[in-house]
Amino acid sequence: MNERAIYDGLLASAFGLTLVTALYLCFFAAPYGRHTRAGYGPTLDNTLSWVLMEAPAALLPLVLVAMGGRYDLMTLVFVVIWEAHYLQRAFVYPWLIRGRGTRVPLLVPVSGALFNVLNGYLGFRFLTVLAPRYPPAWLWDPRFVLGVLLFALGYLINRRADRALRALRAPGETGYKIPQGGLYRLISCPNYFGELVEWCGWAVLTWSLPGLFFALFTAANLIPRALSHHRDYRRRFHDYPQERRAVIPYVL
Ligand SMILES: NC(=O)c1ccc[n+]([C@@H]2O[C@H](COP(=O)([O-])OP(=O)(O)OC[C@H]3O[C@@H](n4cnc5c(N)ncnc54)[C@H](OP(=O)(O)O)[C@@H]3O)[C@@H](O)[C@H]2O)c1
Repeated sequence: MNERAIYDGLLASAFGLTLVTALYLCFFAAPYGRHTRAGYGPTLDNTLSWVLMEAPAALLPLVLVAMGGRYDLMTLVFVVIWEAHYLQRAFVYPWLIRGRGTRVPLLVPVSGALFNVLNGYLGFRFLTVLAPRYPPAWLWDPRFVLGVLLFALGYLINRRADRALRALRAPGETGYKIPQGGLYRLISCPNYFGELVEWCGWAVLTWSLPGLFFALFTAANLIPRALSHHRDYRRRFHDYPQERRAVIPYVL
């Protein structure tokens, strides 16, 4: 079997995995952060867990670019956009967390890292070998321009929302408070909303099936989690703002 056939099989399975993940997460929240619970085996420090989980997403694309040897303008631009997110997420974000030192079941970073290997391979093997070359004129294509705008908007929303959550805790604190201001006026999880907008932007700017897969998987993963967070806020705080939605302003 040649690589293209293997790749197509993996991509089709990945779309199937998205459906299974969405269904599973509607009933069982991934056991980390506020949804941590016993019974998931050995645990790991949460900072280390984030690095272990996200490092493959930051590093594998660089390996695949080197292996593909396609050092043209658009490949470089795709890598810069991707790494703007993942270098921060893998190697900066874990050290900024307030509430460091809590434990996460090893299962969470291991399954996250495996997903990131699959997603990195699907996305960057496509961009560096299997897809036809994107010409430099792709920079002015409306799909690229719209995708970059969405990605940048999502990136800013995600960073700002994560920063607002950090500001709720003093160093060493671990409890939960009601976040206020910005998009928190409308939704409980603007960080997840920003992440979703980012990867929708990536799907549009690459105009690719692996890009679409990642956007759908992000929705499958984060929408059920946002609904779980939203329920948790309402349970914890009797004065939680009634008009606030979970993850999509005015909608959900
Ligand atoms: N692409 C993807 O599919 C994907 C998947 C997962 C995460 N992410 C991204 O990774 C980042 C972190 O994800 P996450 O699931 O850990 O987000 P989260 O549940 O919103 O938590 C983010 C951080 O803020 C703390 N926190 C949350 N709510 C708080 C509150 N009300 N008061 C005080 N502190 C609060 C959390 O502490 P605790 O840990 O103690 O709860 C955690 O340190 C986000 O930007 C998210 O978009 C992306």
